[in-house]
Amino acid sequence: MRMNAAITGWGWHSPDRILNNKDLEKLVDTDDAWIRSRTGIRERRIAGPGDTTGSMCLHAARTALDRANLPANDLDLVICATTTPDHLLPATACLLQQRLGARHAGAFDLNAACSGFIYGVTVASQFIQTGTYRRILIVSGETLSRFTNYHDRNTCVLFGDGAAAVILEATPQKAGVLSTVLGSRGDVEGYLSIEAGGSAQPATADTVATGAHLVRMRGNEIFKMAVRCMAVAAHEALDQAGLTLDDIDHVIPHQANSRIITATQQAIGVPPSKVYVNVEKHGNTGASSVPIALGEMLENQPIRVGDNLLMVAFGGGMTWAAAVLRWADVAAIRRERSLKLSA
Ligand code: ACO
Repeated sequence: MRMNAAITGWGWHSPDRILNNKDLEKLVDTDDAWIRSRTGIRERRIAGPGDTTGSMCLHAARTALDRANLPANDLDLVICATTTPDHLLPATACLLQQRLGARHAGAFDLNAACSGFIYGVTVASQFIQTGTYRRILIVSGETLSRFTNYHDRNTCVLFGDGAAAVILEATPQKAGVLSTVLGSRGDVEGYLSIEAGGSAQPATADTVATGAHLVRMRGNEIFKMAVRCMAVAAHEALDQAGLTLDDIDHVIPHQANSRIITATQQAIGVPPSKVYVNVEKHGNTGASSVPIALGEMLENQPIRVGDNLLMVAFGGGMTWAAAVLRWADVAAIRRERSLKLSA
């Protein structure tokens, strides 16, 4: 029997410290009105001294496992989507595998920048649909504040920190991930980059002094490409799922900037009432932005079995991705699982 991959647990975590637009006025030549009118962002959460991508992911993953009522021991795989891992080696996913007690799980990191969560959902759903694995943790985390140049007004107003996770689980229900679309264009790598700190430009006193290990960006080019690619990917994912826009109940776009979200919503042709937006509170949290928005939406708005969700993202690489999911009867999946485990 062909298995589908459904979300059965979710969780998100933001650090306590808030950096608002007034705080940024003290750091660079900017003002609250400019930031709100150009980005829609009012505040973002910033990691405290004890927070790391791994520690925030751990909180989010534990909440997702609790919601799924699933012991970590039953996970088959841990995928961590991040551009800001705790270390170059080992992978943050391996740290999470150990800290969660996921003793039977493989683990790896995945870097597709802000598209990372949907890339993770795509990979995980293949493992489940082919029958290789049954239960996969996909967790996205970013500590972008550690790679942000707080002397550069073009970038420092945009980014925030946070993490979010989902459990993807096998089910015979005609629900879960219906389609996924991935894309990339490495020829425009310079639109968004952290040049130093890798093997091409190892960290030196000079790279630190020149800020070459911090984010550099060409915002205008990204804006146009993001809207175009997300609109095309969204329609490709709908076509693959055999659905139309009218079938979609909720759209969860990457939370980069409220103007990008509005332009994408218009380019896709979906009403704004269906689009979940929380960029004003979080800023751009990279790979975590789609799953934080998804988690917040699930907490704030009722979702019904059979509702169709469209997720769409764009980020560094450049990369883009879209996925269509049908909300499963999650209680039934948990019931079937506990019956099997107790048999
Ligand atoms: N405060 C005040 N002025 C600023 C600021 C700031 N924080 N940042 C830039 N400006 C200035 C610029 O210096 C420029 O001044 P100039 O005309 O004297 O040269 C002026 O504002 C206009 O700059 P633009 O780049 O044309 O402003 P724009 O309206 O395009 O907004 C922004 C800039 C917000 C960066 C926009 O291009 C954007 O959001 N791009 C997408 C970038 C993005 O999302 N990156 C994240 C990673 S990729 C992703 O997640 C999709």
